[in-house]
Amino acid sequence: MSESIVLCITGASGAIYGYRLLEVLDRLGFHMDLIVSSSGWLVLREELGKTKEDIKRDFPSANLLNEKDLLSPVASGSRLVKYRGVLVAPCSMSTLACVAHGINQNLIHRVCEVALKERVPLVLLIREAPYSSVHLKNMLEVAQAGGIILPASPGFYHKPQSLQELVDFVVGKVLDALRIEHNLYRRWRD
Ligand SMILES: Cc1cc2nc3c(=O)[nH]c(=O)nc-3n(C[C@H](O)[C@H](O)[C@H](O)COP(=O)(O)O)c2cc1C
Repeated sequence: MSESIVLCITGASGAIYGYRLLEVLDRLGFHMDLIVSSSGWLVLREELGKTKEDIKRDFPSANLLNEKDLLSPVASGSRLVKYRGVLVAPCSMSTLACVAHGINQNLIHRVCEVALKERVPLVLLIREAPYSSVHLKNMLEVAQAGGIILPASPGFYHKPQSLQELVDFVVGKVLDALRIEHNLYRRWRD
Protein backbone atom coordinates (compact mmCIF):
# COMPACT_ATOMS: atom_id res chain seq x y z
CA MET A 1 0.00 0.00 0.00
CA SER A 2 1.32 3.48 -0.84
CA GLU A 3 2.32 5.89 1.91
CA SER A 4 0.27 9.01 2.58
CA ILE A 5 1.23 12.64 2.94
CA VAL A 6 -0.82 15.76 3.58
CA LEU A 7 0.31 18.62 1.35
CA CYS A 8 -0.99 22.09 2.21
CA ILE A 9 -0.55 25.12 -0.04
CA THR A 10 -1.08 28.53 1.58
CA GLY A 11 -1.01 32.09 0.26
CA ALA A 12 2.71 32.84 0.51
CA SER A 13 4.64 33.58 -2.63
CA GLY A 14 6.22 30.43 -4.05
CA ALA A 15 3.20 28.48 -5.27
CA ILE A 16 5.68 26.83 -7.63
CA TYR A 17 7.11 24.88 -4.66
CA GLY A 18 3.70 23.41 -3.86
CA TYR A 19 3.07 22.59 -7.49
CA ARG A 20 6.47 20.91 -7.88
CA LEU A 21 5.88 18.87 -4.70
CA LEU A 22 2.62 17.68 -6.20
CA GLU A 23 4.48 16.55 -9.32
CA VAL A 24 7.30 14.83 -7.46
CA LEU A 25 5.22 13.11 -4.75
CA ASP A 26 2.73 11.95 -7.38
CA ARG A 27 5.56 10.48 -9.42
CA LEU A 28 7.00 8.79 -6.31
CA GLY A 29 3.64 7.10 -5.76
CA PHE A 30 2.53 8.80 -2.56
CA HIS A 31 -1.14 9.10 -1.75
CA MET A 32 -1.70 12.82 -1.31
CA ASP A 33 -4.34 14.66 0.63
CA LEU A 34 -4.17 18.20 -0.72
CA ILE A 35 -5.48 21.25 1.13
CA VAL A 36 -5.21 24.68 -0.48
CA SER A 37 -6.21 27.78 1.51
CA SER A 38 -8.33 30.43 -0.21
CA SER A 39 -5.25 32.68 -0.41
CA GLY A 40 -3.31 29.68 -1.71
CA TRP A 41 -5.70 29.46 -4.66
CA LEU A 42 -5.24 33.19 -5.27
CA VAL A 43 -1.46 32.92 -5.40
CA LEU A 44 -1.55 29.74 -7.53
CA ARG A 45 -3.54 31.71 -10.08
CA GLU A 46 -1.43 34.85 -9.72
CA GLU A 47 1.99 33.19 -9.97
CA LEU A 48 1.36 30.08 -12.08
CA GLY A 49 -1.95 30.81 -13.79
CA LYS A 50 -3.33 27.61 -12.23
CA THR A 51 -6.95 27.20 -11.14
CA LYS A 52 -8.63 24.51 -9.05
CA GLU A 53 -9.76 22.82 -12.27
CA ASP A 54 -6.15 22.76 -13.54
CA ILE A 55 -4.94 21.14 -10.33
CA LYS A 56 -7.72 18.53 -10.44
CA ARG A 57 -6.87 17.76 -14.07
CA ASP A 58 -3.09 17.69 -13.56
CA PHE A 59 -3.27 15.51 -10.41
CA PRO A 60 -6.38 13.33 -10.64
CA SER A 61 -5.13 10.98 -7.93
CA ALA A 62 -4.66 13.76 -5.33
CA ASN A 63 -7.46 13.86 -2.78
CA LEU A 64 -8.46 17.53 -2.71
CA LEU A 65 -9.88 18.50 0.68
CA ASN A 66 -11.83 21.63 1.50
CA GLU A 67 -10.00 24.00 3.86
CA LYS A 68 -13.29 24.50 5.76
CA ASP A 69 -13.91 20.78 6.27
CA LEU A 70 -12.91 20.26 9.88
CA LEU A 71 -14.71 16.89 9.81
CA SER A 72 -12.11 15.52 7.40
CA PRO A 73 -10.41 12.30 8.61
CA VAL A 74 -6.98 14.02 8.69
CA ALA A 75 -8.31 16.43 11.34
CA SER A 76 -8.06 13.47 13.72
CA GLY A 77 -4.90 12.14 15.33
CA SER A 78 -6.13 8.56 14.98
CA ARG A 79 -5.93 8.96 11.21
CA LEU A 80 -2.93 11.29 10.91
CA VAL A 81 -0.56 8.99 12.83
CA LYS A 82 -0.68 6.71 9.78
CA TYR A 83 0.82 9.45 7.59
CA ARG A 84 4.46 9.92 6.61
CA GLY A 85 4.18 13.64 7.28
CA VAL A 86 2.48 16.97 6.77
CA LEU A 87 3.97 19.58 4.44
CA VAL A 88 2.94 23.21 4.19
CA ALA A 89 4.57 24.56 1.05
CA PRO A 90 4.65 27.47 0.73
CA CYS A 91 3.69 28.50 4.26
CA SER A 92 2.51 32.05 4.89
CA MET A 93 3.34 34.00 8.05
CA SER A 94 -0.36 33.95 8.86
CA THR A 95 -0.52 30.15 8.83
CA LEU A 96 2.78 30.03 10.74
CA ALA A 97 1.24 32.27 13.43
CA CYS A 98 -1.85 30.07 13.75
CA VAL A 99 0.27 26.93 14.04
CA ALA A 100 2.57 28.59 16.59
CA HIS A 101 -0.38 29.54 18.79
CA GLY A 102 -2.68 26.57 18.32
CA ILE A 103 -5.37 28.60 16.56
CA ASN A 104 -7.55 26.56 14.21
CA GLN A 105 -9.23 28.71 11.60
CA ASN A 106 -9.12 26.11 8.85
CA LEU A 107 -8.24 22.48 8.18
CA ILE A 108 -4.59 23.34 7.44
CA HIS A 109 -4.13 24.79 10.93
CA ARG A 110 -5.89 21.80 12.48
CA VAL A 111 -3.79 19.24 10.60
CA CYS A 112 -0.61 21.05 11.68
CA GLU A 113 -1.78 21.11 15.28
CA VAL A 114 -2.56 17.40 15.19
CA ALA A 115 0.83 16.66 13.57
CA LEU A 116 2.60 18.46 16.42
CA LYS A 117 0.64 16.74 19.17
CA GLU A 118 0.99 13.29 17.58
CA ARG A 119 4.66 13.80 16.66
CA VAL A 120 3.93 13.31 12.97
CA PRO A 121 6.71 15.07 11.01
CA LEU A 122 5.61 18.59 10.11
CA VAL A 123 7.52 20.79 7.67
CA LEU A 124 6.67 24.45 7.12
CA LEU A 125 8.30 25.87 3.98
CA ILE A 126 8.07 29.48 5.06
CA ARG A 127 8.41 32.53 2.78
CA GLU A 128 8.60 36.16 3.72
CA ALA A 129 11.28 38.85 3.57
CA PRO A 130 12.35 40.40 5.80
CA TYR A 131 11.18 38.68 8.99
CA SER A 132 9.74 40.69 11.88
CA SER A 133 10.42 39.65 15.46
CA VAL A 134 6.83 38.30 15.49
CA HIS A 135 7.66 35.94 12.63
CA LEU A 136 10.90 34.86 14.29
CA LYS A 137 9.20 34.16 17.62
CA ASN A 138 6.50 32.14 15.87
CA MET A 139 9.16 30.08 14.08
CA LEU A 140 10.84 29.38 17.42
CA GLU A 141 7.52 28.29 18.95
CA VAL A 142 6.90 25.81 16.15
CA ALA A 143 10.49 24.54 16.15
CA GLN A 144 10.36 23.98 19.92
CA ALA A 145 7.09 22.09 19.49
CA GLY A 146 8.85 19.73 17.08
CA GLY A 147 7.98 21.26 13.69
CA ILE A 148 10.65 21.78 11.04
CA ILE A 149 10.99 25.37 9.85
CA LEU A 150 12.43 25.25 6.37
CA PRO A 151 13.08 28.62 4.72
CA ALA A 152 12.43 28.77 0.98
CA SER A 153 16.03 29.79 0.37
CA PRO A 154 17.95 27.81 -2.22
CA GLY A 155 21.66 27.11 -1.96
CA PHE A 156 24.01 27.82 -4.84
CA TYR A 157 26.77 25.26 -4.28
CA HIS A 158 25.19 22.91 -6.82
CA LYS A 159 25.65 25.67 -9.43
CA PRO A 160 22.03 25.99 -10.62
CA GLN A 161 21.55 26.88 -14.28
CA SER A 162 17.81 27.44 -14.27
CA LEU A 163 14.81 28.43 -12.17
CA GLN A 164 13.79 24.77 -12.16
CA GLU A 165 17.08 23.79 -10.51
CA LEU A 166 16.60 26.45 -7.81
CA VAL A 167 13.07 25.23 -7.14
CA ASP A 168 14.23 21.60 -7.10
CA PHE A 169 16.92 22.39 -4.55
CA VAL A 170 14.29 23.70 -2.11
CA VAL A 171 11.82 20.92 -2.90
CA GLY A 172 14.64 18.40 -2.41
CA LYS A 173 15.30 19.87 1.04
CA VAL A 174 11.62 19.41 1.91
CA LEU A 175 11.85 15.74 0.87
CA ASP A 176 15.09 15.36 2.86
CA ALA A 177 13.24 16.56 5.96
CA LEU A 178 10.90 13.56 5.58
CA ARG A 179 13.81 11.26 4.60
CA ILE A 180 12.28 10.65 1.18
CA GLU A 181 14.82 9.49 -1.43
CA HIS A 182 15.23 11.73 -4.46
CA ASN A 183 17.80 13.12 -6.85
CA LEU A 184 16.38 16.61 -7.30
CA TYR A 185 19.68 18.31 -6.50
CA ARG A 186 23.33 17.36 -6.44
CA ARG A 187 24.61 16.95 -2.89
CA TRP A 188 27.77 18.57 -1.64
CA ARG A 189 30.84 16.91 -3.22
CA ASP A 190 28.71 14.42 -5.17
C1 LIG B 1 0.54 37.50 -4.59
C2 LIG B 1 0.62 37.39 -3.09
C3 LIG B 1 1.81 37.04 -2.51
C4 LIG B 1 1.92 36.91 -1.12
N1 LIG B 1 3.12 36.54 -0.60
C5 LIG B 1 3.21 36.30 0.74
C6 LIG B 1 4.42 35.79 1.27
O1 LIG B 1 5.41 35.56 0.58
N2 LIG B 1 4.45 35.52 2.59
C7 LIG B 1 3.37 35.71 3.41
O2 LIG B 1 3.46 35.40 4.60
N3 LIG B 1 2.20 36.20 2.91
C8 LIG B 1 2.10 36.49 1.60
N4 LIG B 1 0.92 36.97 1.08
C9 LIG B 1 -0.18 37.29 2.01
C10 LIG B 1 -1.01 36.06 2.38
O3 LIG B 1 -1.63 35.51 1.23
C11 LIG B 1 -2.07 36.48 3.42
O4 LIG B 1 -1.44 36.79 4.65
C12 LIG B 1 -3.12 35.42 3.66
O5 LIG B 1 -4.02 35.86 4.63
C13 LIG B 1 -2.53 34.11 4.09
O6 LIG B 1 -3.58 33.20 4.36
P1 LIG B 1 -3.32 31.63 4.42
O7 LIG B 1 -2.16 31.41 5.35
O8 LIG B 1 -4.61 31.07 4.98
O9 LIG B 1 -3.07 31.14 3.06
C14 LIG B 1 0.80 37.13 -0.30
C15 LIG B 1 -0.42 37.49 -0.90
C16 LIG B 1 -0.50 37.62 -2.28
C17 LIG B 1 -1.83 38.00 -2.89
